Amino acid sequence: MVTVAVYNLKGGVGKTSAAVNLAFLAARDGYRTILWDLDPQGGATYLLRGRPKVKGGARALITRSGGLEQRMRGTEFDNLDLLPADRSYRAMDLVLDRASHSTRRLGDQLRPLAGRYDLVLLDCPPSASLVSQAALRAARLVLIPVIPATLSWRTLDQVTGLVKELKAPRPALLPFLSLVDRRRRLHRDVAEQLRARLPSLARAAIPISSAVEQMGPRRTPVHTFAAGTPAALAYQDLWAEVAEMALPGHGGVSEPRPPG
Ligand SMILES: Nc1ncnc2c1ncn2[C@@H]1O[C@H](COP(=O)(O)OP(=O)(O)O)[C@@H](O)[C@H]1O
Ligand SMILES: [Mg+2]
Repeated sequence: MVTVAVYNLKGGVGKTSAAVNLAFLAARDGYRTILWDLDPQGGATYLLRGRPKVKGGARALITRSGGLEQRMRGTEFDNLDLLPADRSYRAMDLVLDRASHSTRRLGDQLRPLAGRYDLVLLDCPPSASLVSQAALRAARLVLIPVIPATLSWRTLDQVTGLVKELKAPRPALLPFLSLVDRRRRLHRDVAEQLRARLPSLARAAIPISSAVEQMGPRRTPVHTFAAGTPAALAYQDLWAEVAEMALPGHGGVSEPRPPG
């Protein structure tokens, strides 16, 4: 079982949209997938029509063995299960702070599920909290959405810094462009700069798209209602790159489309 985190210190950069769509694509390719919504705002839970769960709260989840299994929920999609967020996640930092080996906890809680699932996607809150540190530590790969318009190298440096503070083995990083507007000069320039200066940047870039926005009111992954749109295809390309990096020897994943 491989864990992939979607992370950025900033909110509104497309983390949750990416986590939901990639989880959907992974499940569709036959990977038994968990989407763990770690953000108390519960965006991923909402998009997958999950019910926020309160019983036992963050404490039980983190400190009790088997805490995750009890909270696992099916979705309407084969192979895709959801660990819904709830408001008690706001207290997760405090719970972790009081627990020993706090940043190891998420990974420890996931371990018993390893035989039953192939992939865990962590939708992280936009913070440098203990929850995020624990998520980064549990991950083999960290996806970092970056919007060209608001790109600050400092944010990327901060994420890299957080990862460097972790004990080895550290996760690989895969930054990708998000909410890209090709009509804007600034976006094209920044995208080029990033490609030149950041060799690890994903080939796939997610364009601004009303189909992605529509995921909110429709509460479903973009591929279920707008599969042929450029954004849906870009998520497929991104998924192919993620699978290549995180699931070596993966099969059944569509090849990335040729550029252009
Ligand atoms: N490619 C996109 N095109 C248009 N709107 C998008 C796109 N990606 C995300 N959004 C919208 O931007 C907002 C923030 O996206 P979200 O995925 O929740 O980001 P985060 O999890 O980083 O806060 C949401 O309203 C979402 O619908
Ligand atoms: Mg989010």
